[in-house]
Amino acid sequence: MPLPSERITNISEGDQEGWEVYLKAVDMIRSGEDVLMLSIGDHDFPTPVETIDAAKKALDDGHTKYTTMQGIPQLLKAMAKVSTKALSLPVTTDEVVTMAGGQSGLYAAMQACVNPGDHVIILSPHYVTYPGTVRSAGATFTLVSCSPENGFEPKAEDIEAAIQPNTKAVLMNTPNNPTCAIYSRETLEAIGEVCIKHDLWIISDEVYWSLSNGKHVSPRALPGLKERTVVLVSMSKSHVMTGWRMGWIVAEPEMVHNFMQHNLVNSYGISDFISRAAAEALENDYGVGELQELFTKRGGVFREALIGANDIRILNEDGAMYFMIDIRNITHDAETFAFKLLEEEKLCVMPGDSFGPSASGHIRISLCQPEDKLREGAKRLKRFASNYSS
Ligand SMILES: Cc1ncc(COP(=O)(O)O)c(C=O)c1O
Repeated sequence: MPLPSERITNISEGDQEGWEVYLKAVDMIRSGEDVLMLSIGDHDFPTPVETIDAAKKALDDGHTKYTTMQGIPQLLKAMAKVSTKALSLPVTTDEVVTMAGGQSGLYAAMQACVNPGDHVIILSPHYVTYPGTVRSAGATFTLVSCSPENGFEPKAEDIEAAIQPNTKAVLMNTPNNPTCAIYSRETLEAIGEVCIKHDLWIISDEVYWSLSNGKHVSPRALPGLKERTVVLVSMSKSHVMTGWRMGWIVAEPEMVHNFMQHNLVNSYGISDFISRAAAEALENDYGVGELQELFTKRGGVFREALIGANDIRILNEDGAMYFMIDIRNITHDAETFAFKLLEEEKLCVMPGDSFGPSASGHIRISLCQPEDKLREGAKRLKRFASNYSS
């Protein structure tokens, strides 16, 4: 076989480090062990039945052909309407373009904003695919740490200090996975000033906007930042549609045109029947409100069950479908902690280090389990933490 490209063989090099705990748990489950998984952010219940029915109807009505590179009009209208709410900024149909989920949007945004040889600043802790997404555009990156002492919010001066002559973009995620930090307006304004001064793109991953109890602020809505901010939105988390692969980008119309060129050579557009079901789900907010309520309730259940575990501390009040837990009073080695927790209590959590060095000394748990399992998970974690010796 001829050699594959270096681009593809290096794309995710080293990015799965820290995921060994999760991979081991998957192996244990395969060999019949009863492991409680509080690790992955995929809902434990199906897509709302109304969305599924809309897709079935669209199939029955014969919507099985090619669509357009931007997306079908009904979907673009629904995306513009939801974007207006999500970003607190009027968004028109010529400012949105469909993507096959948030990850496709991330990939397209990176391709559209940076040249090979450019440099990108990734605010970290970060979602695991970010480094590979930057590499896939032939660019390099620096992780800028957001410290737990600052509530995992970034500091504009740290970003400015990391800027190189070839820096082209800042990649950020609010509400954040894994930390659940929701960046404040002041933080975003300060970052915005730096980006204006150095003429940088802001690639803003807002896939968790609907799980912020209304606290989400989009940098695109801030004065002077609209034209330089490309926003990624997805229906995966907000509408319980992870497997449908449906998301979109909000950007200036000229950039939307570029994204359409990208779709032309990449996906050749999104599936028609999924587009129609997605449009209906967006128009009617299928599942959205219930989801926020559910995760808020589940968070309360887990928090209450963890009371008395003095040495570990849940950090965030709102944000996404996770909890970040500070275990630094017990150990800074979250990976060993998580491995032993898996072995001794059959409970799988993610060590913070899986998301970048600034989350070391923390673990992330996902609330994608029913209440009884969350109670049980908190019980096991509490028991384990109180007897832990590193
Ligand atoms: C921060 C963040 N961005 C993007 C994605 C990708 O989402 P999608 O399923 O829409 O591709 C995820 C998925 O977990 C995520 O957590």
